[in-house]
Amino acid sequence: MLYGGVGNGKTTMARAIARTFLRVRNRAQELVNDTRWRIDNNTQDCMDNKIYCMPSSIEFIKATELIRMARDGASISKYITSPAIILDDFGEEAEKILIYGSEAKPTTDLVNERCDNLKLTILTSNITDEALELRYGTRTISRVDQRFDRINFDNRSYR
Ligand SMILES: Nc1ncnc2c1ncn2[C@@H]1O[C@H](COP(=O)(O)OP(=O)(O)OP(=O)(O)O)[C@@H](O)[C@H]1O
Ligand SMILES: [Mg+2]
Repeated sequence: MLYGGVGNGKTTMARAIARTFLRVRNRAQELVNDTRWRIDNNTQDCMDNKIYCMPSSIEFIKATELIRMARDGASISKYITSPAIILDDFGEEAEKILIYGSEAKPTTDLVNERCDNLKLTILTSNITDEALELRYGTRTISRVDQRFDRINFDNRSYR
């Protein structure tokens, strides 16, 4: 979770992390497939498994856009099940919405579910710790505390 003041590079860094993940995965795959190395079958399986565990794609979605999709009845399941996502501007969205008259909390549910399923999630946020707890409640906070490294961006805005 990359959090802090506005305009100081959180989204840029999140995208750079995602690109790096994908590059490392692709490079590792190239190396494993390279016929110049003679890798025995056990090592090959081991390497394949390690590469398989790395995400092959990373979805990028703004929290406000996710809420808009949920409100419009569009499916957001791809963002719940995808092996890796960047959820940008977490805390900017309306955390509670009405869907056919019932209250729903799409971002809270998404974060809880992804945490429970150990899926890679990168959050960017301007939200403070206190506001985080007030908005999302203790269930989500305990998951965020357990599963996320919090990286504070306290430099000035680049804008
Ligand atoms: N390390 C950097 N050096 C110079 N410019 C940067 C750097 N990181 C980001 N920028 C530029 O600063 C601007 C703001 O960056 P970015 O959108 O990543 O900030 P942010 O922290 O996500 O902002 P917000 O809190 O408003 O979402 C962009 O124009 C980006 O290109
Ligand atoms: Mg941003």
